[in-house]
Amino acid sequence: MNFNTIFITGATSGIGEALAKRLAAHGKKLIITGRNEAKLKELKSSLPGEIIPIVCAIEEDYKPLLDVIKNEAPDLIINNAGYGLYGNAIDHDLNQETSMVRVNCEAVLALTLQGAKTLRERSKQGTILNVSSAGGFNPFPTFATYVASKAFVTSVSTSLDEEMEDWGVRVLAACPGVIKTDFSRRASPSKKNNRRPFTMTVDYAVDRIIKQIETGKRVEIFDWHYKLLIFLSKFIPDSILCKMLKSQLKKDI
Ligand SMILES: NC(=O)c1ccc[n+]([C@@H]2O[C@H](COP(=O)([O-])OP(=O)(O)OC[C@H]3O[C@@H](n4cnc5c(N)ncnc54)[C@H](OP(=O)(O)O)[C@@H]3O)[C@@H](O)[C@H]2O)c1
Repeated sequence: MNFNTIFITGATSGIGEALAKRLAAHGKKLIITGRNEAKLKELKSSLPGEIIPIVCAIEEDYKPLLDVIKNEAPDLIINNAGYGLYGNAIDHDLNQETSMVRVNCEAVLALTLQGAKTLRERSKQGTILNVSSAGGFNPFPTFATYVASKAFVTSVSTSLDEEMEDWGVRVLAACPGVIKTDFSRRASPSKKNNRRPFTMTVDYAVDRIIKQIETGKRVEIFDWHYKLLIFLSKFIPDSILCKMLKSQLKKDI
């Protein structure tokens, strides 16, 4: 796998950081973004090759990232930055809920479109992989806005992938189940990071995402436990499914 320029959002922690470490050797240039400046500096000094760190709070203003994409024309973009909030949406600040949509949906769409337009203008091929979630296939009371945001990511990526076929730009959606990162602690109002069934390691998630980029599979749900659960959930009425899911995050709220 060889790219000229790789661009990864949310590279300061979890999946994004692990992807940056793995992919540094696969591109001539690696652009990494996040809010944690110290972590970005640490990665710049420890990773091989040309590393460009960019501090950006996406919920405040992601426009500087659009300019970077216009100028650098990355041929691999990984829209990974994202977060969720456990609990009833009505108990969160309105701003927390709408910021989540800005980071998880609006910025992902804008960076995807800017990335694709830039590649088309330069007659270059490339891949945009959006980190979505297995959670995006069902409603989920106490995780409502997050799963809806990921439903958006999977749906829009699927349609855009078909739209961009003629220009050789791929738009893929990776839909992981639970992965052991900082995600749960950040999402939980009590800052707990309780272990859940079918939790995967970050290394496993990175293996699956790299394989998806290589094979070009449009939508990848992993692992098989989640594929099976999503399939079975189609046979359960929404009213029952919502009641079942509502109890899942109780310990973390
Ligand atoms: N872990 C899971 O169980 C799981 C499952 C399915 C999908 N996902 C998805 O995987 C992606 C990565 O999550 P993770 O598990 O690796 O979580 P994580 O360890 O919490 O990492 C999240 C990354 O996103 C960045 N980020 C979050 N909000 C941001 C904002 N407002 N502006 C800029 N950067 C922001 C963080 O950067 P800073 O810390 O520097 O702000 C961090 O680098 C997310 O899109 C998440 O929805 C995770």
